Amino acid sequence: MKIITVKNEAEGGKVAFDIIKNEMMTGNVKTFGLATGSTPETLYQEIVASDLDFTEMNSVNLDEYVGLVSDNDQSYHYFMKKHLFEAKPFKTNYLPDGTVTDAKKECERYDRVIAENPIDIQILGIGENAHIGFNEPGSSFEGTTSKVKLTESTIAANSRNFAKKEDVPTHAYSMGIKSIMQSKKIILLAYGTKKAEAIFNSLQGPVTENVPGSALQNHSDVIVIVDEAAAKLLK
Ligand code: GLP
Repeated sequence: MKIITVKNEAEGGKVAFDIIKNEMMTGNVKTFGLATGSTPETLYQEIVASDLDFTEMNSVNLDEYVGLVSDNDQSYHYFMKKHLFEAKPFKTNYLPDGTVTDAKKECERYDRVIAENPIDIQILGIGENAHIGFNEPGSSFEGTTSKVKLTESTIAANSRNFAKKEDVPTHAYSMGIKSIMQSKKIILLAYGTKKAEAIFNSLQGPVTENVPGSALQNHSDVIVIVDEAAAKLLK
């Protein structure tokens, strides 16, 4: 695991972008695993401002809220369109469909999508409780796509993007930790003091299902990009 400490989110976005650009130049990258949240925004800005061509690339997103239609401005479909896909067209963008009520069917469909599009580079943020995707503490490291009940702390953290806490969906479809771990390369981004504990527990704490991010210690190609605040508990 390689840890790169940057000054701020702007530099983090540039460092992550350079890694992606170099990987794309090898010609071996076809599919990106993508994340939502404020963390990857500076990376997406770099991609949008670049002349890199993604029209032959596919993307597979980590998660989507259950119950939100794709043009709801809080949906992860909308976020990805607004921050990346509108300006940087890909060949195909895959996301879980939050409007499907038959969870088993939607999870099976998404697992097929992942199997057919093996992820070369997975971009990851991390929750304050160390969730990755929407895999909350206690999620199995062997888990595939599932309908997740969000924890109170995740709902509280994500409520900043909604008019009121009651508007935050209680469930999400999320790619499982097993699928995340099958990505060839993982770039984990984290900024700010609020992420310091999650970063310490994930990178230097015991590997345990109580800390979803700690699964990454078992992956052979993880690059972590953190600012000093998020890195402050690391030894
Ligand atoms: C959500 C997403 C995660 C993301 C996390 C952190 O819960 N499902 O993929 O990593 O939020 O979000 P932020 O980057 O806004 O701190």
